[in-house]
Amino acid sequence: MSESAGQPNAASRRLVVLISGRGSNLGALIEACEQGRIPARVVGVISNRPDAGGLDLAERHGIPHRVLNHRDYPSREAFDADLADAIEDYSPDLVILAGFMRILTPGFVDRFTGRLLNIHPSLLPKFRGLDTHARALAAGESEHGASVHFVTPELDGGPVIMQARVPVAPDDTPETLATRVQRAEHRLYPEVVRRVCSGEVQWSGRILQGDGTPLATPLQLNEDTHDASGPDDRSQPPRTAV
Ligand code: GRF
Repeated sequence: MSESAGQPNAASRRLVVLISGRGSNLGALIEACEQGRIPARVVGVISNRPDAGGLDLAERHGIPHRVLNHRDYPSREAFDADLADAIEDYSPDLVILAGFMRILTPGFVDRFTGRLLNIHPSLLPKFRGLDTHARALAAGESEHGASVHFVTPELDGGPVIMQARVPVAPDDTPETLATRVQRAEHRLYPEVVRRVCSGEVQWSGRILQGDGTPLATPLQLNEDTHDASGPDDRSQPPRTAV
């Protein structure tokens, strides 16, 4: 397979994306690279699940991809060691967790500190962990959203770069809320990756802005940032203002 066929910016930053499932955020990132909105290209996709839908997406875009099934390993450490080697085979500038449903060992995180990003479906520090949409509804939140953060060994605890906010409607279910948050994610993740790739956001033990000043509070996604929702999302309710 040719590497990243169809993706421009061949001389730009190299992204490796880790997935476990559908891969809609992967799709948003590929589209942003292909359209030149991010000065980068996806050079590899790795899934820990052989049935992840995002693998088909990588295949369709000519992006090298592989499965590393965690069930084939005797321990978390052994899996993470092979995963880190597989990632480094692609020589990435950035490693992007996009629905990668694994808790990572400190040894793994240390190898990629400062170039490891995750997206989490809540306004961190609220609702770390799973079932965030149901928990936001149960808590009576009027606002919910997604956060992109640098990964540290603490689960969903790394410093947040940027958030996208969506309103919670009175008749929302976890499913309708998840749809609204995911549409926001598809604008949020490419925007953060763009800023990191272009140097507008940097890591130096903490988050720095392009002018070198520390980021005191997370950036907030503007409502007019490009809507990268793919065809799968167009049957969903219209994007709500964030
Ligand atoms: C997203 O909601 C993300 O916030 C969470 O997992 C989901 C992945 O969805 N970490 P997809 O596989 O990108 O469609």
